[in-house]
Amino acid sequence: MAVKVNEYYSLIQNNYLFVEIARRVDEYQKENPDANLIKMGIGDVTRPLAKSVVEAFKRAVDELGDADTFRGYGPEQGYDFLIEDVIENDYKPLGVELKNSEVFISDGAKCDTGNFQELFSKDNIIAVTDPVYPVYVDSNVMAGRSGKMGEDGFYENIVYLPATSENDFVPSLPSEKVDIIYLCYPNNPTGTTLTKEQLKEWVDYAHKNDALILFDAAYESFIKTPGIPHSIFEIEGAKDVAVEFRSYSKVAGFTGTRCAYCVVPEEVYVKDANGNKVQLNPLWNRRQSTKFNGVSYPVQRAAQAIYTPEGKKEIQENLDYYVKNAQVIRESLEKMGLKVYGGVDSPYIWFKTPNIDSWSFFDILLKEAHVVSTPGAGFGPSGEGYLRLTAFNTYENTVEAMDRISKLEF
Ligand code: MLT
Repeated sequence: MAVKVNEYYSLIQNNYLFVEIARRVDEYQKENPDANLIKMGIGDVTRPLAKSVVEAFKRAVDELGDADTFRGYGPEQGYDFLIEDVIENDYKPLGVELKNSEVFISDGAKCDTGNFQELFSKDNIIAVTDPVYPVYVDSNVMAGRSGKMGEDGFYENIVYLPATSENDFVPSLPSEKVDIIYLCYPNNPTGTTLTKEQLKEWVDYAHKNDALILFDAAYESFIKTPGIPHSIFEIEGAKDVAVEFRSYSKVAGFTGTRCAYCVVPEEVYVKDANGNKVQLNPLWNRRQSTKFNGVSYPVQRAAQAIYTPEGKKEIQENLDYYVKNAQVIRESLEKMGLKVYGGVDSPYIWFKTPNIDSWSFFDILLKEAHVVSTPGAGFGPSGEGYLRLTAFNTYENTVEAMDRISKLEF
């Protein structure tokens, strides 16, 4: 076979973090078929789809089964009915005006954040906060932007901005010039947030350094604390320097249903090799129209249902359910004397392990408490010594898991 492989794949870790965790968990479950494992690792939801969502979903399927209302290919960018509801409900109340052409419906924020880097040349310098959602790093490694990983776990060409208890999980601005910065707030994995003033510093940095911020707001619906920004576009001037990603996965239980969107303001310009300005929005449009055929009509109708008065009420009940779980987790860990972060405006609880490295503590929880967690080190070198639990299991399982963990001796 003369086909040459994309060599950059050899620079990446063997398995995607959550695949590696699933592999270890499956292996343990096979050896211990009676172990009743409680999964608080990957942020997958347990509440069923809201009633209004299911009804809208079914109605749309019926439309497809009728010759008079059947639809084939939809717009690659998403149907206007959903885009208009996004603008009206998710952005207008924040004082953010958007055009329909700036919102792109997709099948997930993981896909959007992973794919977006395709629009940029290979020599851009990427910055990530550390620990970080692995998709941002892995997708740039695959594209050849990272260089090799050193012994210390850092890729040589990626700028890492540590966010740890030492800096109260507020990463410093890069000390060198970077081109593209990935930010996720409320943060995955630490569950921490930034204030408007803190986020403004990043927007100012981007203006001063001609940089672009790729802002992942997948967890914004968990924000309860007043004043915490739900969107980067709440910050003045952000529309010139930022793209935002959102998802229905956690807000409306769409992890299996798949629907999300990405906002690419018309004001964002990048540069070509000759230094000429190039508008980003048409590039993403071109990418999506070529490689994506849109989200299915019933799924977009299902997503739209969360913006009805009934839908809003129902999804809020689910969010409150998870918030209560987060509180149970936080309080239990604190009672055990552990240092706990996040879990207030976020479904993720991040805590310091009791002087055990994160993969070993992951193993202890798995083997001795039958609880699946996510080791902090899996999110990057600065995650070492931390562990993440999610609030997405059922209330009963969450209470049971915390009870089991509290009985461990460590
Ligand atoms: C996580 O557990 O970090 C998320 O569920 C991953 C994702 O949304 O892709």
